[in-house]
This record gives sequence, structure tokens and C-alpha cells, in this order.
Amino acid sequence: MLKEIQLCLCAIFIFAFGIFYQLYQDPGCVFSCKPISKHSLTPKDVMSQGRSIIFLETTENLQPSPLVLCSVESAARIYLDRPIIFLMKGMDNNSMTDLASSCPSLSFLYAMKNVFIFPLKLNILFQDTPLLPWYLQVNATQEKHWVYIISDAIRLAMVWRYGGIYMDTDVISIRPIPVTNFLAAQSSQFSSNGIFGFQQYHQFLWDCMEDFVENYNGDIWGNQGPYLITRMLSKLCNLTDFVDTEDQKCHNISFLNPQRFYPIPYGLWTKYYEVWDSRPEFNNSYALHLWNYMNQDQKKNITVGSNTLVENLFRTYCPTTYKTLIRAAKQSEHLFQNETR
Ligand SMILES: *[C@@H]1O[C@H](CO)[C@@H](O)[C@H](O)[C@H]1NC(C)=O
Ligand SMILES: *[C@@H]1O[C@H](CO)[C@@H](O)[C@H](O)[C@H]1NC(C)=O
Ligand SMILES: *[C@@H]1O[C@H](CO)[C@@H](O)[C@H](O)[C@H]1NC(C)=O
Ligand SMILES: *[C@@H]1O[C@H](CO)[C@@H](O)[C@H](O)[C@H]1NC(C)=O
Ligand SMILES: *[C@@H]1O[C@H](CO)[C@@H](O)[C@H](O)[C@H]1NC(C)=O
Ligand SMILES: *[C@@H]1O[C@H](CO)[C@@H](O)[C@H](O)[C@H]1NC(C)=O
Repeated sequence: MLKEIQLCLCAIFIFAFGIFYQLYQDPGCVFSCKPISKHSLTPKDVMSQGRSIIFLETTENLQPSPLVLCSVESAARIYLDRPIIFLMKGMDNNSMTDLASSCPSLSFLYAMKNVFIFPLKLNILFQDTPLLPWYLQVNATQEKHWVYIISDAIRLAMVWRYGGIYMDTDVISIRPIPVTNFLAAQSSQFSSNGIFGFQQYHQFLWDCMEDFVENYNGDIWGNQGPYLITRMLSKLCNLTDFVDTEDQKCHNISFLNPQRFYPIPYGLWTKYYEVWDSRPEFNNSYALHLWNYMNQDQKKNITVGSNTLVENLFRTYCPTTYKTLIRAAKQSEHLFQNETR
């Protein structure tokens, strides 16, 4: 009898502890925890304040790489008071309603309060912009750089229509960008389009969309991307070379020093995957662009325990993504041990 009472007390204790633990983890959600209140919000609802940070996945891929996850997570942590929008072409209404099973790797991101994942709908996006006629007549299968071209078009239309900051999915945010209208210099007198921010309906982006269509040439990589931004900016202002870590100003657009996002220039991109004698501080940077485009052949990885720069960046700026890497590494080690037994 005494034993039964003891067992029963023990069970009650464990149950109560479980509830307290869940409350501790996420107050306000005890038995089920669905981040569903976000579900009823449309992209327009979320983005109308013009403060969004916008990421794109323009392929059908629904299983983003660790670097993509890190990029979105780091922004969500740095910009706590701004919505982080991840637009995915492969997402439809069905995968949206059952995100956890259709894309498990995304569920931790979706659970973050300020992260929103939406399907990417191009007809609506290009409506009332100079890009719509182009989009309706271009034949995507004949464009060898299509993934880049469409991504170049979408980011212009997105930031023009809603305002906010566009970021490539290989950018790790490390501190907030303090200006609204800005372009990122990749080097003196050359602007990238991997990250930029504008207020809603800024004339510069409208002019860029017009130039996109007028001077369209899909055979030249980047002609609608960094080269377009650079030629539009130099039409507007006479740019000078950067001397030190200063920024430039062109009307009300800040042209941000290469140190802000590209402290490691693209020729040295493998530095991110190396072990450094002393850890760089990146005190002059807002975010780090990892040049994943350069990594197509070598396919360098983020290896747990390697002490490479990229591993340390993950540990600091996207700890949840980093934890999933640790878990995956442990699992594959486990599998390996079982196989060799
Ligand atoms: C998906 O949902 C949106 C908004 O709820 C709706 O307007 C649209 O018609 C739906 N699309 C499909 C294919 O069901
Ligand atoms: C697009 O190009 C492909 C390949 O050249 C061709 O088979 C297809 O008919 C074209 N589509 C349209 C709508 O013109
Ligand atoms: C740039 O400088 C040149 C020569 O100094 C001048 O003729 C031109 O008007 C300037 N362009 C702009 C956009 O300020
Ligand atoms: C910046 O300039 C554009 C025109 O080029 C204008 O539409 C916009 O209102 C200006 N923004 C600010 C904050 O002054
Ligand atoms: C970078 O910033 C940190 C923290 O603010 C500071 O301790 C450090 O001295 C700075 N490094 C350089 C090279 O200015
Ligand atoms: C990176 O990881 C993938 C999958 O885990 C593996 O197939 C590939 O060999 C790794 N690449 C390098 C360079 O280690």
C-alpha cells in the first residue's frame, strides 16, 4: 500500500515538473504549442510597416542548407523588433498549413516570434511595376541564368513595394544596420545587390526596374543585378574611391563601405572556412557575406569541432542552427559506429 502511494506521488511530481518545465520553456503554452496566430497574417499585413528583412528562396527547394538557416536565424536575433520574411517558391498553401512535416528543418525558424514564411507569388508581386510586361513575355527555359535573373527582379520589386532590407541567404547578421536607404559597396565604385535597403516606393528602385527591362540582357551574368545597381548609382552621383572605413552619400542613399558587409573580399572567400590564429572582431561590419556563390564547386561545409571561422560565427550568431549541426554530427557518428561494429 505504502509503495503504491509512493509511486503515485512520484508520478504526480513528474507530471507537475513537466508542466513547470514547459511553462519555463515557453510561458503561455502548456499542452500544445502552435505558433498559429501568425497563420492568418498575409505578407501585406506583416510587411506594410516597411521594416521587414526579406530573404528569398527562388528554387523549389524546401530543405534549406545550414547556411541559409543561419542567415535567417541571425537576422531574427539581431532585428528582434522587425519582421523577418522568408519567401519560398516551393511553398504552397498545403505545405504552409503543415510546415512541421513538409519542411521539418524550418520549424525552429517558424517558431521564432518575428519569423514569417510565405509562398512566393510573382504575378502579384510584379503587378503595377515596370517588370510585369517583361515577366509575362520572358521564356524562363531559354534563360541560362534564370535563377539569378528572377531573383534580381524579385528583390527590386519587393523592396520597392514594401520597403525594408533585402538580404541574400548567405549573409550572417552581426549588428543592426543603422540606415534606411542604402546600397552596399563591394569595392570602390561598385555596388552589390546582395544586400540593400530602402523606404517604400523609393524612386531609385523604380528607376532600376525600368532599366532592368530597357537594358535587359539575360546572357550576361549580373547585368540585371550588381551591374544594374552600379550603373544606376553612378548615373545619380560621381562616386569616389573609399580611402578608409568611411561611407559615401548619394542624395539620400548611403553607399556603405565594403567593410560593412564584405570585410573578407570574394577572392579570399575560403578564409571563412579556415582556422584563424586570432578571431577577427569585424568591428566595422553590420553583416558578413559568405560568398556562397563561390562555393559551388568545392562545397565547403561547416564542420562541428573544426574551429574554423564559419563554425565560430554559427556558434555565436545562429546558435539554434548550430545545435542542429551538432545533433546531426552525433547521429552520423552513431550510425558510423553501428556500421563498423
Ligand atoms: C492559398 O491561400 C491564399 C490566402 O489564404 C488564397 O488567396 C489562395 O487562393 C490559396 N491558393 C490555393 C492554390 O489554394
Ligand atoms: C520556351 O522555350 C522552350 C525551349 O526553347 C520552347 O520549347 C517553349 O515552347 C517556349 N515556350 C513559350 C511559351 O514560348
Ligand atoms: C560628375 O562629374 C562630371 C565631371 O566633373 C560632371 O560633368 C557630371 O555632371 C557629374 N555627374 C553627376 C551625376 O554629378
Ligand atoms: C529620398 O529621395 C527620394 C527621391 O529620390 C524621395 O522619394 C524620398 O522621399 C527621400 N527620402 C527621404 C527620407 O528624404
Ligand atoms: C572591437 O570592439 C570591441 C568591443 O567593443 C573592443 O573591445 C575592441 O577593442 C575593438 N577592436 C578594435 C580593433 O577596435
Ligand atoms: C559536406 O557534407 C556533405 C554532406 O554531409 C558531404 O557529402 C560532403 O562530402 C562534404 N564536403 C566536404 C568538402 O567535406
